[in-house]
Amino acid sequence: MTPAPILSVRGLTKRFPLRRRLLAPRAWKEAVRDVSFDIPRGSTLALVGESGSGKSTVGLMLLGLLSPTSGEILYQGKPILRPTGRERLNLRREMQVVFQDPYASLNARMTVGETLTEGMAVHRIGQSAREREERAAELLRQVSLSPDALRRYPHEFSGGQRQRIAIARALSVGPHFIVLDEPTSALDVSVQGQVLNLLQALQAERGLTYLFITHNLDVVGYLADEVAVMESGRIVERGSVEAIFDQPREDHTKRLLNAIPRVEG
Ligand SMILES: Nc1ncnc2c1ncn2[C@@H]1O[C@H](COP(=O)(O)OP(=O)(O)OP(=O)(O)O)[C@@H](O)[C@H]1O
Ligand SMILES: [Mg+2]
Repeated sequence: MTPAPILSVRGLTKRFPLRRRLLAPRAWKEAVRDVSFDIPRGSTLALVGESGSGKSTVGLMLLGLLSPTSGEILYQGKPILRPTGRERLNLRREMQVVFQDPYASLNARMTVGETLTEGMAVHRIGQSAREREERAAELLRQVSLSPDALRRYPHEFSGGQRQRIAIARALSVGPHFIVLDEPTSALDVSVQGQVLNLLQALQAERGLTYLFITHNLDVVGYLADEVAVMESGRIVERGSVEAIFDQPREDHTKRLLNAIPRVEG
């Protein structure tokens, strides 16, 4: 039996107003149209599709960073679109995000230690600053960085190391669900594999659930349980990794699969 979904999305739609020409009627860009899916606890759903197909917009709505035009999002069976203050705080702990660009997503003025303990302090994790720092050092070990990193600044690290720091920050508040929006596409190919291995190991250890947004179908084959293919704001195909790779039903998916060079094995 598949476990109950940790996250469900029903009829999610997002329209952005387009800039309006004088006297012209209001025009809209429908970035996401009537999207529905469930993500079983502990699994990875890959959201793939061409640039502009609406993937990040879906991720931002799940995280409460964009409000949907219509539709519903359920977390552990409960609607989360209009959370109370306390619910919002809980959700910020439960759901975390890792973005593509590890240069832009870390605060350059904060040490790694400050970056990793900030969320813990907000969510009252750890009894003291000292205990939070110990937890931060442990998180660094889990992402294969030395605890010496605590006193250093983001510019002292490589892209791959920064992405490990961003992952450690996401983990610092003990989330159960993580949106990974192209987390490896800014990295060198050799480093991409290491970060993917890390994400996979952390998922197995902590029972995390991932929404993995990517262009890279190699990554999908490696990490995902299920795939949803987006085109022009809609999910046009959805299934297990095997089914989509072996027998894509939509021409669009076939084009996507052909467009990406696949590494053997
Ligand atoms: N704030 C916004 N205002 C207006 N239009 C937007 C806004 N955000 C996104 N869009 C439009 O919505 C569509 C979907 O954008 P989105 O960023 O979700 O695509 P994506 O699939 O993540 O693309 P990529 O693979 O390039 O990251 C695009 O046409 C984009 O231009
Ligand atoms: Mg995007």
